[in-house]
Amino acid sequence: MRMQAGSVSVWASLPAIALFSVLSATAGPANAQRQGKEVVDAVCGACHLSGKDGAPRIGDAAAWSARTSAGLTGLTQHAIQGIRKMPAHGGSSGVSDVELQRAIVYMVNHSGGNWIEPAVRTTVAARTSEAVVQEQCAKCHQAGKDGAPRIGDRAAWTQRLSKGLDNLVASAVHGHGPMPARGGMPDLSRDEIRHAILYMFNYGLPPVPTPPAVAAADPHHKQVAGMDVYFGMMRAEAMRSQVERPGAAKLPVPSGRGYYHLNISLEDSKTQAPVTDAEVTMQVSDGMTMETKTLTRLAANKAVSYGNFFKFASGSSYNITTEIRRPGVPGTATARFEFKAP
Ligand code: HEC
Ligand code: HEC
Repeated sequence: MRMQAGSVSVWASLPAIALFSVLSATAGPANAQRQGKEVVDAVCGACHLSGKDGAPRIGDAAAWSARTSAGLTGLTQHAIQGIRKMPAHGGSSGVSDVELQRAIVYMVNHSGGNWIEPAVRTTVAARTSEAVVQEQCAKCHQAGKDGAPRIGDRAAWTQRLSKGLDNLVASAVHGHGPMPARGGMPDLSRDEIRHAILYMFNYGLPPVPTPPAVAAADPHHKQVAGMDVYFGMMRAEAMRSQVERPGAAKLPVPSGRGYYHLNISLEDSKTQAPVTDAEVTMQVSDGMTMETKTLTRLAANKAVSYGNFFKFASGSSYNITTEIRRPGVPGTATARFEFKAP
């Protein structure tokens, strides 16, 4: 090993903290990982001992310190992805990211550097299956590259799962045709692979239905097109006394029996502001007959509602269809209610 005095200060200035942060993002279980020396002996040494193809030679402090301008993260990234004649993962996909980093630290420290051995978490990372799939498996399984079963293609996955989930996990661990070992992510645990497979299988299934909102349980309240629609009704006879009151909407209450005043009020679901510019029609049907009317805009006590009188002759159950149009809003919002005559 050759030491160059001039390079010591370069090494000393390296941010050791960065090493920890890089590793905490990629580390796997500690015990499964080889030490830096083993990895260098087995893989990296083939080029880095002799300096083949311009590889920085182990022991050449000048060559190694010159590479630190990219920062430690950059150096590690280059070794993971490959750079020029340096193959990705040193040309051996069986080398995990942690092992790569240990090997780099080993080579650096045998070339005048003084880096800290990577800290590896002893428990498997809280890496969600979604994150694993997005980061790695999607590279091929999204588009179905080289015949990879596509994410969410349950027919394709079901066929593969016929050999059993455990066998599928094993096959993904060892690689299968163009499918790389551990999906090309060497530090993935078996459990992570299992969950990634299940994630790809289940992807796109409808979410478990949530119980209906309380609002939907109210038969007189609907939400359509970003509006809350409240339906109300009142017997015409009961209204006669009300319309006499000051501030009440002046309505030509029909005389005769069987009349009801049906009305709706509208609110913007987000702001709860009353919707005052709508044009509303209402259709009332008992299954045999049908009556459609435009509702009159009623302003009373600062509130706005839309209403009209309908005659309920015989039936006991009516379907009420409200169509709401607003200036500047394309289309018609429809809200349906049911009315049972008392
Ligand atoms: C097939 C030969 C070969 C093998 C095997 C190899 N390397 Fe390299 N490596 C190179 C070459 C060539 C370069 C110089 C690339 C360049 O900068 O042009 C290099 C550069 C690097 C660099 C510097 C990257 C940078 O950002 O400047 C690191 C770090 C590195 N190798 C790590 C490793 C590790 C760790 C291993 C073993 C797991 C390994 N290499 C195995 C050929 C190899
Ligand atoms: C580089 C591309 C690539 C990546 C990345 C990749 N796969 Fe695959 N995978 C394939 C291809 C191609 C096949 C189909 C292989 C075949 O049919 O022989 C496949 C097949 C599989 C199979 C079925 C194996 C079998 O025995 O039928 C599983 C399980 C699997 N991949 C899981 C994963 C997981 C989990 C990941 C992410 C951690 C992943 N793959 C990442 C390309 C990839």
